[in-house]
Amino acid sequence: MRVLITGGCGFVGSSLALACRAAGHEVICLDSLMRRGSELLLERIQAVGATFVHGDIRQSDDLARVGPVDVLLECSAEPSVLAGTRGDGARYMVDTNLGGCVHCLEFARRTGCGLIFLSSSRVYPYDYLLRGAYAETAERLEYAGGLQGVSPAGVSTACPLDGRRSLYGATKLAGELLLQEYADAFGVPAIINRCGVIAGPWQLGRSDQGFAAFWMARHYFNLPLRYIGFGGSGKQVRDILHIDDLCALIGKQLAVLDRFRGEVFNAGGGRPGSVSLCEATAICRSLTGRVLAITSEPANRPRRHSVVYHRFGAGRGDL
Ligand SMILES: NC(=O)c1ccc[n+]([C@@H]2O[C@H](COP(=O)([O-])OP(=O)(O)OC[C@H]3O[C@@H](n4cnc5c(N)ncnc54)[C@H](O)[C@@H]3O)[C@@H](O)[C@H]2O)c1
Repeated sequence: MRVLITGGCGFVGSSLALACRAAGHEVICLDSLMRRGSELLLERIQAVGATFVHGDIRQSDDLARVGPVDVLLECSAEPSVLAGTRGDGARYMVDTNLGGCVHCLEFARRTGCGLIFLSSSRVYPYDYLLRGAYAETAERLEYAGGLQGVSPAGVSTACPLDGRRSLYGATKLAGELLLQEYADAFGVPAIINRCGVIAGPWQLGRSDQGFAAFWMARHYFNLPLRYIGFGGSGKQVRDILHIDDLCALIGKQLAVLDRFRGEVFNAGGGRPGSVSLCEATAICRSLTGRVLAITSEPANRPRRHSVVYHRFGAGRGDL
């Protein structure tokens, strides 16, 4: 199979490139290398024989240069929930996340390839999720009811989508909706994976890449940390999905992609793979032997909805 990975020098894209090469696929990674550190991952994908195309997803001609492929894995994005909210970055973020997604859809329609879209749990509105009841235990907040589509197992795909979700989440949801219409109108084989927090080797440990590597890196390098929001005690909870598990999932989806036309899956660690910040601190302490003085900011900041992990369990469309 000939596989094109947009954002192929990012954390997820490069990991998928290695997994696809190991499965015997021909792999082309398109990336603008705008993310600092992606040049390190470029060496990694080239070492396994993936082809690199320097291109910008905002330019449809850059995609066209790749030529026909069997499937496109769309992993290029500004992936932070805060993306576009500072300075004048909103336009760049929308052009990359949504405009880039549209270029991928057009590419799939024109060339007849399948498409797997890396979406996000950030499509679920934080203002809706904050209306739930949460019980406080010694180490974490536990969901205690009051919301449709949410259970003690987490957030399911039945969760209502009406509400505020961040600019980033909005670009992902808009991309999902367009993808489903392209799949319906033009028969594009397509799957949407709504990923929660992903973590694993070769993640660069920046705060905008998710808290897992960031929390560990701050311990490792003995740098300050702060519990922000939800009372400031670090009891907010998220699930974590290991990158190898995501690669295994997408490997299985590649084999059956022809059967799908834009179905949505939640893909994450579920409750068994969830951790609160203070639980994460305990893990990092035991691994590094370092005890950081963690400060506290009790008030919630906008767009933080890390009260519950994302559910990845029961119900159609949930894994
Ligand atoms: N990492 C996570 O926890 C997580 C969670 C949910 C969803 N996702 C989604 O997974 C995908 C990959 O995320 P990631 O963590 O690998 O991010 P990343 O920042 O590590 O990788 C993104 C890659 O896209 C490239 N890129 C950015 N703008 C581009 C442009 N205009 N043209 C071409 N390339 C461009 C960057 O250089 C980078 O290599 C994203 O769509 C993200 O929304 C990630």
